[in-house]
Amino acid sequence: MKCFHLWLRKRTLRLLSTVTLLVFCLSLIAWVIKTDESDTEFRDEFNTKEVNANHNLRTKLMHEYCGKTGKYMDDSQEKHLDLSNFIVLEKYKLVYCPVPKVSCTVWKNLLAKLDGLFLGRPTNYSQTYTKFMFVREPFERLLSAYRDVFLGWWKRSADFWKSYRKRVREYLVSSGRLGINTSADNTTFEEFATYVVLKHRNGKDLQEHWRPMYDLCHPCYIQFDFIGHYETLMDDAQFILRKTNVDDKVQFPEWRPTDTNDLMQKYYSNLTLLRIAQLQSVYKDDLELFGYTFPGVLQPVVDKLGGT
Ligand SMILES: *[C@@H]1O[C@H](CO)[C@@H](O)[C@H](O)[C@H]1NC(C)=O
Ligand SMILES: *[C@@H]1O[C@H](CO)[C@@H](O)[C@H](O)[C@H]1NC(C)=O
Ligand SMILES: *[C@@H]1O[C@H](CO)[C@@H](O)[C@H](O)[C@H]1NC(C)=O
Ligand SMILES: *[C@@H]1O[C@H](CO)[C@@H](O)[C@H](O)[C@H]1NC(C)=O
Repeated sequence: MKCFHLWLRKRTLRLLSTVTLLVFCLSLIAWVIKTDESDTEFRDEFNTKEVNANHNLRTKLMHEYCGKTGKYMDDSQEKHLDLSNFIVLEKYKLVYCPVPKVSCTVWKNLLAKLDGLFLGRPTNYSQTYTKFMFVREPFERLLSAYRDVFLGWWKRSADFWKSYRKRVREYLVSSGRLGINTSADNTTFEEFATYVVLKHRNGKDLQEHWRPMYDLCHPCYIQFDFIGHYETLMDDAQFILRKTNVDDKVQFPEWRPTDTNDLMQKYYSNLTLLRIAQLQSVYKDDLELFGYTFPGVLQPVVDKLGGT
């Protein structure tokens, strides 16, 4: 009898706890469903705060770097700057500096939809214009440009790039890199990196796809209102469109950054430590002004190369 009672009590207890658990689960689900509606709004607000903080940090970094390096320029130097590349939307008082390999086609399409594209000298437009640009980790941008121009199916077949790649091979041969067949279209990343370093050392302007972003957009002179990052493209793009009151007219297309970490390790492992250091010096302004640490994502490569 006692035993039966105990069994009954145990059973009741188990039943009770099961019911309690079930009720708890159901209410949890209900709560999740209910909060889901307001969640996007909440996240939106949260993102805006974070983007705003990022933005303030980047502006501070830019002013610090330009001040520290004495790179602020006065107007007399303006005529020496190549400012031919900027896009101006007079109707919306927007100035955009396109940087190849940093979602620049997407931006051009979007701005064209707003008001057509118009190339203008940014300094012709007053403080009331909002000036913005987008940047990307320089080593990642360099690899992306190499893969695009030397391996990508579209640029491999384009005549302009074919003859460009031939000139790269000829330049390497003329600089004493033997064993390169100028007729064979097969430049390696290692050869390309050497080309970039040599060309930069000789004081030549680099092709826009790998020209330092600093030299494309002259941030110490133009003083951008927004410097977006490729790594946070969607948030930064939405932030800029909202701040310039065009977010009801155009939408930045849904976009997720691809993880290039494996590619970075694979390609940069083929360079020497010296070459990586030389590239660091080519992209010194970009790394420091836009807040990218070195070696950053290349840390494993640098460790590996340094250890052997
Ligand atoms: C900029 O303004 C100067 C005169 O102030 C003018 O000569 C020039 O054509 C303008 N350039 C552009 C691209 O609008
Ligand atoms: C150079 O490349 C071309 C095209 O691939 C090839 O026909 C030629 O035999 C190569 N020359 C040498 C010396 O390898
Ligand atoms: C490029 O191709 C040529 C022959 O076509 C070859 O001799 C050379 O080794 C190749 N270079 C590389 C870096 O693969
Ligand atoms: C790295 O170099 C090796 C040997 O030269 C070559 O076989 C390989 O394809 C290169 N890898 C990349 C990603 O360029």
